[in-house]
Amino acid sequence: MENRPLEYDYTVAKMFMLTTIVLGIVGMSIGVFIAFELAYPGLNTIFGKTIAEYTAFGRLRPLHTDSVAFGFTVSGIFATWFYVGQRVLKVSMAESKFLMFIGKLQFWLYVAGVAAAVVSLFMGYTSSKEYAEFEWPIDIAIVVVWVLWGVSIFGLIGIRREKSLYISIWYYIATFLGVAMLYLFNNMEVPTMLATSPIGETGIGSWMHSVSMYAGTNDALVQWWYGHNAVAFVFTVPIIAMIYYFLPKESGQAIYSYKLSLLSFWGLMFVYLWAGGHHLLYSTVPDWVQTMGSIFSIVLILPSWGSAINMLLTMKGEWQQVAASPLIKFMVLASTFYMFSTLEGPIQAIKSVNAIAHFTNWIPGHVHDGTLGWVGFMIIASLFHMAPRVFKRELYSKGLMAAQFWIQTLGIVLYFTSMWISGITQGMMWRAHDEFGNLAYSFMDTVNVLHPYYALRGLGGIFYLTGFLMFAYNIYKTMSARPVEESELQNASPMGA
Ligand code: HEM
Ligand code: HEM
Repeated sequence: MENRPLEYDYTVAKMFMLTTIVLGIVGMSIGVFIAFELAYPGLNTIFGKTIAEYTAFGRLRPLHTDSVAFGFTVSGIFATWFYVGQRVLKVSMAESKFLMFIGKLQFWLYVAGVAAAVVSLFMGYTSSKEYAEFEWPIDIAIVVVWVLWGVSIFGLIGIRREKSLYISIWYYIATFLGVAMLYLFNNMEVPTMLATSPIGETGIGSWMHSVSMYAGTNDALVQWWYGHNAVAFVFTVPIIAMIYYFLPKESGQAIYSYKLSLLSFWGLMFVYLWAGGHHLLYSTVPDWVQTMGSIFSIVLILPSWGSAINMLLTMKGEWQQVAASPLIKFMVLASTFYMFSTLEGPIQAIKSVNAIAHFTNWIPGHVHDGTLGWVGFMIIASLFHMAPRVFKRELYSKGLMAAQFWIQTLGIVLYFTSMWISGITQGMMWRAHDEFGNLAYSFMDTVNVLHPYYALRGLGGIFYLTGFLMFAYNIYKTMSARPVEESELQNASPMGA
């Protein structure tokens, strides 16, 4: 056993790869559709007025955000964990029937939870908190899935052969603990099925209705402590876990600085938790909370760039690989977009800048250079690296991968540039006034000016989605090709297991 290489079992990893791709396609397609709804509002009723309730922007928007965040991204996190975890801990899932069972159970409960979430959001059941829209029965299912994942993480760690915990494992553990804490606190809600409303509010008395345990300003504070840290623990920390494993593996380069990765890790853990106040600037939360949110957001540049610089410097002396390998291109551009959005975010958190940026399209612009460029590219790159190894087949087409890279990059650039221009235009037009204090523009004036930018964003979305479909095709063709041994793979990692 000691002399033979370990046979890792990728059954659960493959299952989650499938949901990453399927939910990515679903979520991004809805994203493209709602992007065009904002450009052409007639699309809200394109399938007829009788079902307009289901196709309206307001109903579809949370379906987009939740399917890309909790569908595409969380599946990507699980898929990579069930691959990376075994390899860096030097233990196979096949060695423990219990862990194998837990992994499969986690997958099937996750699929059931996603189905329930999609149906309930379509039907209009929502707690109305952004990124926490699910009603309480689905929240309970999510908690169970999460606990099962925790059993997998700590179970594998418990039976590992490799004594030291590679930095990626730290980041996966932090993801598990961070999301558990945030999700539990923000979703403290009281089901109302036994209640009746004295003023006849709809929903009360139903199994799919609840009210938050917190009221007013407190509710907003907890919500944005959660919302901002969902960025930290879903869109940042697990993605760093991925890049710290896949970039060294793919490039054959050791990580630039292990010390810097630890320093950034603790920096992120400490600073992120205090920055959520930047979502509530000029609101009713105490002024000191807002100022603290702004200051911690600026400080957040340090650990964020610490990680990003560490990733980029891992390529030191090997930059020719960026030109040669589309997979390295994906990862290097992902790190660059990470740097980019973690500079843009702190700028938006400065109070005077936020006065212009808040409520405008510049915010979705910031969101999508982070999510499309950093999160999307890194999950795609990870799955590209994994596919030949888990399916034991040569990747179908590197040419297709390169074309996908350029199409998606063009899509991202169209997305964020159009949203930057339209966001700042929007912010400036809303505040413009004459010498008597009368507003210079009506709301409709701004809508008319913004139209071309909305259309351009939709086009960017089509490019990104097209690239994603090319990715799905490439993986599908890889799966159905002739099997080869891992050691025979053309792009087998130069760094062993
Ligand atoms: C084809 C690609 C995509 C398109 C066209 C798209 C489009 C959109 C649109 C139109 C909105 C609503 C903006 C608004 O309310 O003004 C939105 C919101 C959002 N999307 Fe996407 N999206 C895409 C992919 C993604 C991906 C892959 C992620 C995450 C991994 C993501 C995360 C989000 C988030 C978090 C929001 C809420 C932003 C906010 O509240 O400011 N999107 N998206
Ligand atoms: C140093 C790191 C970052 C800081 C300080 C930061 C700061 C901000 C600020 C100030 C806002 C606007 C709040 C508002 O006025 O509505 C915002 C929104 C947002 N950011 Fe960031 N950001 C950072 C990194 C990122 C990254 C890397 C991502 C994604 C990969 C991201 C995703 C989001 C999302 C999803 C929202 C929209 C929330 C909503 O209103 O629904 N941020 N961020």
